[in-house]
Amino acid sequence: MTLPPGLRKAVLITHVTCSVGWLGAVAAYTALDIVAVTSQEVATVRGGHLAMDLIVSYVIVPLALAALVTGLLQSLGTPWGLFRHYWVLAKLLLTVVATAVLLAETRTVAAMAEYAASGADPRAMPGTLPHSIGGLVVLLLITILSVVKPQGLTPYGWRKRQERRRTKPGGRMPVSG
Ligand code: HEM
Repeated sequence: MTLPPGLRKAVLITHVTCSVGWLGAVAAYTALDIVAVTSQEVATVRGGHLAMDLIVSYVIVPLALAALVTGLLQSLGTPWGLFRHYWVLAKLLLTVVATAVLLAETRTVAAMAEYAASGADPRAMPGTLPHSIGGLVVLLLITILSVVKPQGLTPYGWRKRQERRRTKPGGRMPVSG
């Protein structure tokens, strides 16, 4: 299955917007997380936790799922394939792990926002800094992989390239869009 060029561009634009948007949203979340664990002002800490919950539910989770789905479309609908290049495979694994950790963490963030909204003193809550900083590092790594696209075919990709050369002498697997 190969996407027609116009559709491929549209999916790529959506993919880059959602995935790099995810990185930006995690950066905004991290700023709130830092304020929530360092501020001594009850109202500031409470507001931080409530905003963190809203950003996770309405921005970060939708963008993460959209990045994953559009990434899959971009791989399966272009000659890059899903299992042919190590950089695509690495992106898939890192994105799946990042999304799974995010979905598991969503409940903790919601519980902390509920506690903060209850009127109790929210300053003793631990925040989620290891997750937000870890998430930022992983998303940055995925972005670098996407732009650099390091060479390296998987054994499956290598077999496919040989098959292609046999059926289409002189034909080469495209290296980029
Ligand atoms: C946080 C997750 C992700 C980020 C930040 C991200 C980022 C990007 C960026 C910036 C590009 C454009 C690179 C360029 O054109 O030079 C790109 C392209 C691409 N991405 Fe992702 N991506 C993510 C997830 C995924 C996933 C999960 C897959 C596959 C399962 C994937 C597969 C691809 C493919 C195949 C391209 C090349 C598209 C083409 O040239 O037509 N991405 N990605």
